[in-house]
Amino acid sequence: MSERPTDFVESPSLDRDCTTLSRHILQQLQSYEGSAQDISAIMNRIALAGKLIARRLSRAGLVEGALGFTGEENVQGESVKRMDLYANDVFISVFKQSGLVCRLASEEMEKPYYIPENCPVGRYTLLYDPIDGSSNVDINLTVGAIFSLRQQEGDDLDHTAQDLLQNGRKQIAAGYILFGVSTMLVYSIGNGVHSFTLDPSLGEFILAEENIQIPQHGAIYSVNEGNFWQWDESIREYIRYMHRHDGYTARYSGALVGDLHRILMQGGVFLYPGTTKKPEGKLRLLYETAPLAWLVEQAGGKASTGTTPLLDVVPTYLHQRTPAIIGSVEDVELVESFIREGNRQE
Ligand code: AHG
Ligand code: MN
Ligand code: MN
Repeated sequence: MSERPTDFVESPSLDRDCTTLSRHILQQLQSYEGSAQDISAIMNRIALAGKLIARRLSRAGLVEGALGFTGEENVQGESVKRMDLYANDVFISVFKQSGLVCRLASEEMEKPYYIPENCPVGRYTLLYDPIDGSSNVDINLTVGAIFSLRQQEGDDLDHTAQDLLQNGRKQIAAGYILFGVSTMLVYSIGNGVHSFTLDPSLGEFILAEENIQIPQHGAIYSVNEGNFWQWDESIREYIRYMHRHDGYTARYSGALVGDLHRILMQGGVFLYPGTTKKPEGKLRLLYETAPLAWLVEQAGGKASTGTTPLLDVVPTYLHQRTPAIIGSVEDVELVESFIREGNRQE
């Protein structure tokens, strides 16, 4: 009888390199049901969108027409960047012939993009913010993309997308892609939060960390203090409390995905409260705050509007904004206590 070959040496780093996103998703789903296969295929398509956007971003300074504004405004009344449009189209292109999702809803489009040929099979809706933090694009700083998956309810034949106006607990999957020093994809399908780093030489997202748990408390508070005089007095009091107490430090990049990623890894709180000009704040519920709230709660954190759990908010229209306080349980609760109790002097 021949002996087992002895020249195979166990290599943890090789094993790790083989833990790709697609393999991880299949392990997570542990099922061969149709719906599991669909979610796995959808996540792989999102990963492809991430790779296409990462490629464009990394060459943006070298090609004509990649940077700068288009000269148009989106439905949010914000100036549109060329990269916003490119990334928006990337998600449409990767899902158009996939048979997987019936609608795509993005902060860059007034109405969802319907793919009727997919609807008999792919009864999902992908909601996304194609480029988050787009003011960072032209200066070569970190940006992100945010995604969220919901089951379509009803036929939506009149294209009003009323079934999307439900709370954040209806999400099936959510996550973000961080275009930073390296490209990372962080996702949850309701069973923990997992991060992956893009290895450009392989073109694969490789597992970085499984079952991420956000610390219960962290030193960082992340907020645009330029809005100080536009906030409610309770938020100003909270910030004064941060200034007066040891053990806190501020970080703010102008890209929610980047700021939130730091908080997910190191603890702390991100907040974008209402202002006098924008009482609901700036961030959009369906494309930004609900997906990140869901993800952070999956990692053991907390998300609030200040008065209500963020995931309980039911929007009345697609592009609705919400104040957002997201992060470590203790730090979110500290902000909430200021909002509840008004001016807390300590
Ligand atoms: P977007 O680029 O998708 O419009 O989002 C920008 C958001 C978010 O990324 C960031 O946290 C926030 O806007 C920054 O806004 P301010 O400049 O008002 O602080
Ligand atoms: Mn955004
Ligand atoms: Mn955006």
